[in-house]
Amino acid sequence: MSAQLFQAKPWGAPRKALRAGVLTLLCLATPCGLQAEPPLPPPIISQGARVLPVLASHGMVVAQEGTASKIGVEILRRGGNAIDAAVATGLALAVTLPRAGNLGGGGFMLVYIAKEKKTVVIDYREAAPADTPRDVFLTEAGDAVAARSRDSGLGVGVPGTVAGLSLALRKYGSGKFSLAELAAPAVTLARAGLEVSDDLADSLPLAQTRFKRWPSSARIFLHPDGTALSRGDRLVQTDLASVLEAIGRDGERAFYEGPVAEKIVASVRAAGGRMTVEDLKSYRAVERAPLHGSYRGYEIASVPPPSSGGVHIIELLNMLEGFPLASLGADSAATIHLLAEAMKLAYADRAEYLGDPDQVKIPVAGLISKAYAERLRAQISTARARPYAEIKPLDPAPYESDQTTHFSIVDHDGNAVSNTYTLNFSYGLGLVAEGTGILLNNELDDFAAKPGAPNAYGLTGGAANAPGPRKRPLSSMAPAMVFRDGELELVTGSPGGSRIITIVTEIILDIVDFGMNLAEATEAVRVHDQGLPDELQVERGLNADTIRLLQALGHKVVVHGAWGSAQSILRVNGVLMGAADTRQRETLAAGY
Ligand code: GLY
Repeated sequence: MSAQLFQAKPWGAPRKALRAGVLTLLCLATPCGLQAEPPLPPPIISQGARVLPVLASHGMVVAQEGTASKIGVEILRRGGNAIDAAVATGLALAVTLPRAGNLGGGGFMLVYIAKEKKTVVIDYREAAPADTPRDVFLTEAGDAVAARSRDSGLGVGVPGTVAGLSLALRKYGSGKFSLAELAAPAVTLARAGLEVSDDLADSLPLAQTRFKRWPSSARIFLHPDGTALSRGDRLVQTDLASVLEAIGRDGERAFYEGPVAEKIVASVRAAGGRMTVEDLKSYRAVERAPLHGSYRGYEIASVPPPSSGGVHIIELLNMLEGFPLASLGADSAATIHLLAEAMKLAYADRAEYLGDPDQVKIPVAGLISKAYAERLRAQISTARARPYAEIKPLDPAPYESDQTTHFSIVDHDGNAVSNTYTLNFSYGLGLVAEGTGILLNNELDDFAAKPGAPNAYGLTGGAANAPGPRKRPLSSMAPAMVFRDGELELVTGSPGGSRIITIVTEIILDIVDFGMNLAEATEAVRVHDQGLPDELQVERGLNADTIRLLQALGHKVVVHGAWGSAQSILRVNGVLMGAADTRQRETLAAGY
C-alpha cells in the first residue's frame, strides 16, 4: 500500500478477469501446483469503482453510529489525539448504540503511537468472578445449560470498558482533555435523550423479550405497554448520564467501587450471578504486547489472547500467502475454496489451543509462525473440500448477529486507535443494573461450558477456555492495523462474533491481493467457514455459478444475510480514506 502502489492499475480489469477465470478452471479441474505471486498494486480510488471511500486530510473517525463519529472528530479538531477521540467515541457509543457500545462490557484496543512507531494493546476483556467453578454452566449430570451463560447473572463478566478507556487515556492521551471533558458529550446525550433512530428502532424489538424480564431495563427501552421504543420516540438514559458524570469527575473508581459497583453486584446476584464488590474492585485492564505478522510485504498488528482474533488473522494470512490469490481472482470459486480450507484449519486450532494467557499456556509463537502455516497449507487440497472432523448440530442463538461494535481513528500526527468492544449479545444480557442505566454483558458464554459444547456462535473449545476464577473468556475480536515499510496504512476491525476473524482477513486480502479500494473491500461479499457447523457460509450476492463450483468441490454452501460492520481507515501519503460499512444503518466515516 505504498504510494507507488496506489497509482492507477497499468492493466485493465478484463485481462485480470480472464486470467483469473482460466486459472480458476484449471485449478478446479486438477490439484495444480499453485505458486505464490506478488500482490496486485491496489489503487487509491479505482476509476469507475462502484463505491468510494470518504477522504480527509487531518483526522478521521469511522464508527457504527454517526453521532459518536462526529463527537470523536470534534475532539480531533480541538487538538486531541486519536486516544482522546477514542475515549469520547467509546463513551458516546454507550449512549447512542446501546446494543454494543457499552460501559457494562469489555473489549480490546490496539493503539499506534506514531512518534515512537509503537503499537500497544489494551485488554479490557471482562473477567469471570472469583467464584466461578469450572462446571458453572453444567447440570449435575454434566450437561451444558446455555441459558445459564446467556440468560442469567452467571453469564455476566466483570465489565472492563471503563478501566480500559481510563487506562488508554492515562497512558496515551494527549493530556489536553480530562476524562470529564471527554465524557461530557455522552452525558449530555444520555440526559437530554436522543431521538430513536432507524437503527435503534430495528434493534430494540429483537431484545424486547429480554428487557421485559427486568423492570430496570423495561423502564428505559420499552413503553409502559411493553412494546419497544420506536422511530421518533426519545431514548432518555438519566441514570447512565449520572454514572458517566461520576466517572468523569472521580475516574474509574466511581465505577468499580462505591454505589455504582454495589448496584451492579446487587443486580447481577438478583439475576442468579455470583459477582461480588471485591470482583469489581480488583478488576484491572491489562496492557499487552500486540501480535505481529507479515503478509506479502505488509506488516500486520493485532491483539493477542485472550482474543483469538490476532492469532488467527495472522495464521490465515500465513497459510494464504502461499497461494496466488490475485491470479485466482476475488470471489472466484478457487479463491473461496482456499479461504474456506484455511479457515477450517484455523478454527480447529482455536478450539484446541486458545484461552486466557494468564491462566493457560498458549503456543502463540508456533501458531503464527510461517513454518507452521506451511505444514497446514500442505494439508489443503485445491480439488476437494475436507469435511470437518467433529461435527455437531448447532443451536444458533436467536440474536446471533452483529452485537459487537468497532471504531477506527487516525489523527493528524498519524496516531491511531482500532477498538472493538461488546456486550456479547445485542444489548448483552438485556439487564440494566438497577439505578445505573448500565446494560450488563453476557460475555461468559464465550467460555467453553464443557469440551465440545458450542457457545452462541457455534464455537467450541476445551480445557484452555474452560470457565475459571477471574479468567477472561476467549474472544474473536480482532482490531487490526497494517503497516508498509514501518508506516501505518490500514486501521480496521469489525463486529460479527466468530466471523470477526474472517471479516478482517478478507478486508486485508481484498486490498492487498485484489486491488480493491477500501470501500470496495468493505462492501465485498464475505465468506466464512469455521468448520462447525460444516458449511461454507456466504453472504447473499455471490453468483450462482461460483456457488455451483464450490458445491462441486464438496462444500455445503449456505447463503446468509449480511454480517459484520467493518469500520476502517486507509492512510496513504497523509490522505485518509474512510469506509463505514453500509450493512448497518447509521455508520459514518467522518473526517476533517
Ligand atoms: N463475544 C464475542 C467475542 O468476544 O468474540
